[in-house]
Amino acid sequence: MNKQEQIISMFNEISPTYDLLNRLLSFGIDRRWRQIACKKCFKHYGKEVERIVDVACGTGDMIHFWHEGAEKTGHTVQEFVGIDPSVGMLAVAKEKIEYANFIEGTATTIPLEDGSADFVSISYGIRNVVERLDAWKEFYRVLKPGGMLVVLEFTKPEKENVFGKFTKWYMQKMIPFIGKIISRHSDAYTYLPDSIKAFETTAKLKEEMEAAGFQSVFIKGYSFEISTLFMMQKPA
Ligand SMILES: C[S@@+](CC[C@H](N)C(=O)[O-])C[C@H]1O[C@@H](n2cnc3c(N)ncnc32)[C@H](O)[C@@H]1O
Repeated sequence: MNKQEQIISMFNEISPTYDLLNRLLSFGIDRRWRQIACKKCFKHYGKEVERIVDVACGTGDMIHFWHEGAEKTGHTVQEFVGIDPSVGMLAVAKEKIEYANFIEGTATTIPLEDGSADFVSISYGIRNVVERLDAWKEFYRVLKPGGMLVVLEFTKPEKENVFGKFTKWYMQKMIPFIGKIISRHSDAYTYLPDSIKAFETTAKLKEEMEAAGFQSVFIKGYSFEISTLFMMQKPA
């Protein structure tokens, strides 16, 4: 198995306990990060939204927040599509959400036509995509001119803030400890902090997306820079 296949296989194995652990380990703060992203995006776009595509959709959390955001901002969205290569994660998503189409696929092989999406999102997923530069190009291809790319991710801090030591301890000690007990998977919750440590800074990701043709609209770190929101736009 290559590195990408190993990552996907790991998500298949933890899919039954993924939602429970996600809420527990993030104390539910991720809900706020997701709500802000969706609301800001609808407000900025200001046009009819036909199709929203959530890549690396996992168990469908971001689709839920897109749906809720549309209702709260008075938008009607014709189609919600979730894409993920893990059949285990998709099975949980299909159980929870009946109004979206969930399709097996990767960030570099999205089975949709060129220029067919108003929004493409990827939440806490881009870290797992080995061919990341190809993914940016694929998101660009699938978006309509003027379409929005929304990325939520745990980026590598440029410098440690006051909460840095606590965050480090929580990520590197507590998450693997609790994660192993609940998921009964020995490596998955060590992979999470390790993959953040080995990941890129906000500035580097912005540079990559701009090199793929996107214009940055809004970029901000939330909760002491733990989670970063990138709102990018394909030029009209
Ligand atoms: C940490 S989960 C995030 C799930 C969801 N977006 C959320 O916010 O809860 C990462 C997801 O990325 C998916 N993934 C892994 N490799 C991928 C790839 N190459 N392309 C798309 N998704 C991938 C995994 O199957 C998993 O569902």
